[in-house]
Amino acid sequence: MRPFEPVCVVGSGYLGTQIGVTCARHGYTVNMHDVSKEALMSSKKAIDDYVLEWVSVGDVSEDEGNDTKSRISFHEDLADAAHQAGIVIEAVVERLDVKRKVFKRLDEVCRGDAVIATNSSSIRVSKIEDATSSPHRVLNMHFYGYPWRRRVVELMRGSSTSDEVMEKARGFSRSIGLNPLMVLQESTGFIFNRVWRAVKKECLRVVGQGVASFEDVDRAWMSLYGTAMGPFGMMDRVGLDVVRDIEMVYYEESGDPSDTPPGVLLRKIELGELGVKTGKGFYSYPDPSYMEPRWLYGDA
Ligand SMILES: NC(=O)c1ccc[n+]([C@@H]2O[C@H](COP(=O)([O-])OP(=O)(O)OC[C@H]3O[C@@H](n4cnc5c(N)ncnc54)[C@H](O)[C@@H]3O)[C@@H](O)[C@H]2O)c1
Repeated sequence: MRPFEPVCVVGSGYLGTQIGVTCARHGYTVNMHDVSKEALMSSKKAIDDYVLEWVSVGDVSEDEGNDTKSRISFHEDLADAAHQAGIVIEAVVERLDVKRKVFKRLDEVCRGDAVIATNSSSIRVSKIEDATSSPHRVLNMHFYGYPWRRRVVELMRGSSTSDEVMEKARGFSRSIGLNPLMVLQESTGFIFNRVWRAVKKECLRVVGQGVASFEDVDRAWMSLYGTAMGPFGMMDRVGLDVVRDIEMVYYEESGDPSDTPPGVLLRKIELGELGVKTGKGFYSYPDPSYMEPRWLYGDA
């Protein structure tokens, strides 16, 4: 059996599912867990779709695709999914109280040598570590959406994470095809998310102050950086409620009123327009206007 095997992913939503299928694609047996049965069913369906896409574009053969799927199992019971795992990656909702409960339980049920990582976007593991009796084995392992395309993961230690655990996490990251970026001192938002947060915030302010439409902000970004979508399209994809929750973490840390989530974002959430997952956010889905030919030029 390979070191770290089986891998356990706790929280089988958007990112957890993508992390799980990435590990399985790289040969690991993966145990997925979620408190919600529906989430586990959706995760299975999403995995089928990801694999189908990889096969259709020739990234993996049909046999490799089937092998990937066969390595993943779904568990309603946390202990059942985690007790044998060499590494556990937590990807549950972005709430400190929930993550602390999950880590406490993981600490109780996991192997003594298991590495336990949180994929949180904005909560440092040092805020979670004392929920465990073994803070030396916990760390932040921050993945990005579509890890098979965006091949980086940011690794950040808590107050007591051991060098050995950091080295293990680095080796594991490489074994699933990702480039580990080391965050040298504790930083809410790691490396790239600090930069991305400043962009999001300013984009929301530009629109909130009536300076420009969200479409023109995205047109500027897409034209100048040559990307397939702009910051508003990206926020829709992440989920506007997730964007709000991340802003709240920064606000709770700083207490600075200018760090509260911008009104434009809150109004969307009040309307239940959370982005791709609800069919409407800033754009409407599944066919957002920015994908139309000539949209960039404003005459779509
Ligand atoms: N969405 C992104 O692009 C992205 C990127 C990097 C990191 N993250 C982080 O990943 C985590 C998950 O984000 P997401 O977008 O996948 O959210 P999501 O809402 O799609 O999934 C969260 C899942 O957690 C489950 N859950 C809730 N409480 C649980 C518990 N106690 N035990 C087990 N499962 C539980 C929910 O049922 C849900 O399926 C968050 O910490 C987020 O900050 C997200």
